[in-house]
Amino acid sequence: MLRSYSILRFLVFAALLALTVGLTIPSVQAAEGPLAPVNLRCEYLNNPLGIDVRQPRFTWILRHTERAQLQSAYQVLVASTLELLAQNKGDQWDSSQAASDDSTQVVYKGKPLESDHSYWWKVRYWDKDGKASDYSRPASFGVALLSSDDWKGKWIGGANLLRKEITLNNKVVRARVYVTALGYYELRINGEKVGCNDLDPAWTTYPVRVLYSTYDITSQLRAGKNAFGAMIGGGWALLGARDVPAPYKQSALLLQVNIELADGKTVQIASDSSWKVTQGPVVSDSVWDGEVYDARRELPGWDSPGFDDSAWSAAKILEGSKGILSAEMMPPIQDVDSMVPVALTCPRPGVYVYDMGQNSSGWVDLHVSGPRGTQVQLRFAELLYDTGMINRENIRGAKSRDIYILRGDGEENYHPRFTYHGFRYVEVTGFPGTPSLDSLRGHVVHTAVNTTGSFVASKTLLNQIHKITRWSDLTNLMSVPTDCDQRNERMGWMGDSQTSAEGMMLNFDMAAFFTNFVRDIRDVQDPDGTITDTVPLRYGSRPADPAWGTAYPLICWYLYQQNGDRRILEENYDGLKKYLEFLHSRAPDDVLRFSHYGDWVSTEKTPGAEVSDFYYYYDTLLLSQMAAVLGNSADAASYAQRAEQIKDAFNKAFFDPETGNYTTGTQTANALPLFLDMAPKDRRGKVVSNLVNNVLYEHDTHVTTGFIGIRYLMPVLTQFQHSDLAYDLAVQTTFPSWGYMLANGATTLWELWQNKTGPAMNSHNHHMMGSVDAWFYEALGGINVDPDLPGYRHIRIEPQMVRDLTSVSATVGTVRGEVTSSWTHEPGVIRLQVDVPVNSAASVSIPEDNEMTEVTVHEGNRTVWENGHFVEGTPGIVAGKMGNRRVSLEVGSGHYDFRLNGE
Ligand code: BGC
Repeated sequence: MLRSYSILRFLVFAALLALTVGLTIPSVQAAEGPLAPVNLRCEYLNNPLGIDVRQPRFTWILRHTERAQLQSAYQVLVASTLELLAQNKGDQWDSSQAASDDSTQVVYKGKPLESDHSYWWKVRYWDKDGKASDYSRPASFGVALLSSDDWKGKWIGGANLLRKEITLNNKVVRARVYVTALGYYELRINGEKVGCNDLDPAWTTYPVRVLYSTYDITSQLRAGKNAFGAMIGGGWALLGARDVPAPYKQSALLLQVNIELADGKTVQIASDSSWKVTQGPVVSDSVWDGEVYDARRELPGWDSPGFDDSAWSAAKILEGSKGILSAEMMPPIQDVDSMVPVALTCPRPGVYVYDMGQNSSGWVDLHVSGPRGTQVQLRFAELLYDTGMINRENIRGAKSRDIYILRGDGEENYHPRFTYHGFRYVEVTGFPGTPSLDSLRGHVVHTAVNTTGSFVASKTLLNQIHKITRWSDLTNLMSVPTDCDQRNERMGWMGDSQTSAEGMMLNFDMAAFFTNFVRDIRDVQDPDGTITDTVPLRYGSRPADPAWGTAYPLICWYLYQQNGDRRILEENYDGLKKYLEFLHSRAPDDVLRFSHYGDWVSTEKTPGAEVSDFYYYYDTLLLSQMAAVLGNSADAASYAQRAEQIKDAFNKAFFDPETGNYTTGTQTANALPLFLDMAPKDRRGKVVSNLVNNVLYEHDTHVTTGFIGIRYLMPVLTQFQHSDLAYDLAVQTTFPSWGYMLANGATTLWELWQNKTGPAMNSHNHHMMGSVDAWFYEALGGINVDPDLPGYRHIRIEPQMVRDLTSVSATVGTVRGEVTSSWTHEPGVIRLQVDVPVNSAASVSIPEDNEMTEVTVHEGNRTVWENGHFVEGTPGIVAGKMGNRRVSLEVGSGHYDFRLNGE
């Protein structure tokens, strides 16, 4: 992770770059060569409608027909109209031909952006030979409301249905709505839902910050009468928890609509007391308990013009949140997929149990017809008893049920709006008649991040672990990374997210999501630097357990490593420093001992103090690295020095040089310090052998760690040449192991290694044991960020070809384009195909087979390694060397097909 500066890699990269320097670049268009950039993103988002960043950052992906290509210059045009952009006029910003190899994180430097405006942009680039690409296709971004003065709306409420009619005197040419709620909202215009977001807005510390969404409603409005309708629910704004009361007593709506008419006039509509309110069909709603919906109370036409609302009351102006209003700049929660039940049983008369075949988050769509007033109850569960009845013991205090009361006028469809459930099974009672498989459809609901990574191995068990990890990761993205999705918790537990974050980033496009979550963390920080176990705070403590609080520096660091995102470091540096200084204040003798949870859910105990102190060292080291990135050399030096002191104190407090064990000598106890290379050099070998012996002989190749330890155990074994053993752990099938979960029917990861089904803490959908997935990508796939040239500017491709594994194919959709590593291993022949994005370079390290003496490496039909030497002349491959029984080749961008043969 924190490796020393690699001069060789840098030199090779610099050599490739140097080719571009000092060239007078002719503006040549070429059909061959550089191709127009694609996947243009602004603040990590494709064509966002509403951002509130004054200097947004642009990212694009380069394509080229040749290998080893780079960007030597770019030109970004930002225009206020699409027409101007089409004429290559960047009236907002014309970067002109900017000599730079930055194709990510390019900061807008044009005229000040204005609130409630749309902008269009495109980009072209010059390759290392000075050839220009065509311009990309246009992309757009919208600026939302940049200042609180732009907001004219007031927080309103009084009941859960709100409406307002307006008349527009002309055709609408542009209309945007900015909307949020304390709790959840569903906005409707002229009888139709606006947008596809669910459970919006994102959960934040509402008294500090509320996020609003922007929708383009141009096509939903028309000249003449229009009706706005909003349903609001309580969400997390009205839901208290064990330690923290609900922030608000009633839900509220805040909205503003800015309309431009064809005659040039503008119309503004805002939430105020002219809105009318009444109680709608949602009788109650709660994130944990579900929804009660009385369809008899529906008011047909309430969200269309002409509805008689004379019986409705005037909306109340509420205090609402005094927090900052910020644009929601991440993928929204959406209904992303549907599921057809795989089985329907009737374990008792009138009790029907549906099996969705997959544990997931969301809700079901009920299709029913029957007499008016019939109550159908849906109860959700992850587990079944042997009797076939649902087992909801592990859902604890959450009622997790929806009740639908029929209108009685034919076919009725219902799904809740303001709750979600974590479930595989649904129990239906009160159904009029006999339900069929078609009476229910499952809906998968979570933050709609794009899948960008893939991992497939020749070992089915690994693919299954990958699959259940993906499910757990995704179904726990509910605008914050939650711990679980089913019981009376579902919170942003930071320990869980810090261990899963990297794996999530390898699988999904997480940059915007985690940028938002980092701000959420900043929002809970007190002036004394403390942060909390859960973000937003509902459970747990302040100060956070250091293994939970480390989410703040670590997620910032992963965002920087994965995306080359300097801004996340700049924006958080002060907050991180405050956090570090708080830790420091609790470690007078350089040992940080306080701990709430330690290596949570382990099968063998490691002292919490050791875990906390490890993170104290880790965080201090990260701060020193961040300071160096930001050019603050004084801080870099002082944090580095402090880190040395902490390391020494750590070894004094927790290490026994005699035995070579840290504290209790558990896997976690020894793996943690090995991960950061903290052990005294002369005893390091002993710590490694203790760790290996512990896994192999004392536990018969089983893990004993909790979710903290497992995050480091696998990479540590790999780091010290024991990838085979790490693999053996990964494919273990008896308790405790991932295979054991799968053998017992898991379709998502469990919270515990044990197979428990009782009332205690044992969720069957917790993502935190899924950090092994990062190891799949990094060790088995071999795709690694180079910490010295982050954002995949330089990539280390170094697959571990272990045991009986005969093939792995991994792809990571990086900020610079797709990186692929795909290998097959037969005795004596290794084939490795890689893809390196344009504007990146890579070290590709191909292992020999154990018994090989003479190895030859071909790329396509050329020889690149023979008789112990690198053979020059293959396009894109600039250097090669041998070490640790691996041939390592330095390559530029492009696709390569390597074949290593040996005798
Ligand atoms: C949560 C965990 C969390 C832990 C901390 C549990 O209730 O579900 O995932 O990290 O508490 O103690």
